This record gives sequence, C-alpha cells and structure tokens, in this order.
Amino acid sequence: MKIGIITISDKGSKGVRVDLSGPAIKETIKAELYEYVIVPDEIDDISAKLIEFIDQKKCDLVLTTGGTGLSLRDVTPEATRKILDREIPGIAEAIRGESLKITQKAMLSRGIAGSRGKSLIVNLPGSPKAVKECLAIILPVIPHALEVLEKGSAECGGEN
Ligand code: MTE
Repeated sequence: MKIGIITISDKGSKGVRVDLSGPAIKETIKAELYEYVIVPDEIDDISAKLIEFIDQKKCDLVLTTGGTGLSLRDVTPEATRKILDREIPGIAEAIRGESLKITQKAMLSRGIAGSRGKSLIVNLPGSPKAVKECLAIILPVIPHALEVLEKGSAECGGEN
C-alpha cells in the first residue's frame, strides 16, 4: 500500500511551524511507500496535490491533516470535495461520533472522506493528538474499504 500524507498549514508550508501531525500519521501507519508534503491553506494547492498524489503518484490512501475547522482559512473539506468521485459520509461520521467521546470540540471539524478512482481520501484534524485518535477509529476498516475499491467487490461475509 502506498499512502500520501498532506499536511495543510500556512505556517508549516512557510517553515514557521514544525509539522508534527504529518509525522504522527507516518508513525501510526507504517507503510513502506509514502508521499509527504506540506501545503498552505489554499483550495487550489490542496486540490492539485490530492490529484497529483492519486493520479500520478498512485497513492492508495491519502490522509490530509489540518484545515478542517472554522477559521476562514480552513478550506480542506472544500478542496477535497472538488476532486472526489464519491463521498463516503460514514467515515467522517465515525470520526466525529467517536471523537466526541474524547472532546466536544470534535464537532468543529468539518472533515470529509471519499474515493477518487480506486483511492481513498480522508481529512483528519490538524494536531498530532487528533490524528492519532482519528486514525485509531478508522484504521480497522481501511483495508476492507481499499479492497472493495480495488476489486470492485469484496466478501463482507457476515463478519464484523
Ligand atoms: N478530534 C479529535 N479526535 N481530537 C481532537 O483533539 N480537535 C478538534 C476537532 N477534532 C480534535 C478533534 C478541534 S479543537 C478543532 S478546532 C477541529 O478538530 C478542527 O481542527 P483543524 O482545523 O486543525 O483541522
């Protein structure tokens, strides 16, 4: 599996702030192949990098971190929605639902998830703590999601 990690941060992209969230994703998902970049909170930059990671670099899973909140600069969900073939609301619902048990502020993340071709894209909030919490929620289901996207079908077979 090849994963793409996109940290979305104005300060991180200028080198003013050290990115801890992107490395937290890499530490949590020990994929052999990965792409990593920091981009500013600009819709066109985010969309272009998502397309590049999926269409050219052939990432199976792209995880973004940051830019999902309420600040006027937070445009990650809008940039992601532009390049998706289909939204997968259940992933974002699970992230928010489970995260609400940890912090009420989880309701402030507008992150979405979906597919483009055979690739899966998930928006995560922008702190290392949130990244780890949200990955723990979705990781058990990611292999099955990727299998269905890859093969067009998969045995769900009554298992949990
Ligand atoms: N979700 C989890 N699991 N843990 C967190 O600490 N932080 C919240 C929320 N979701 C958080 C979380 C906070 S404080 C904000 S402002 C929003 O995510 C949006 O974060 P972002 O703008 O960095 O993407």
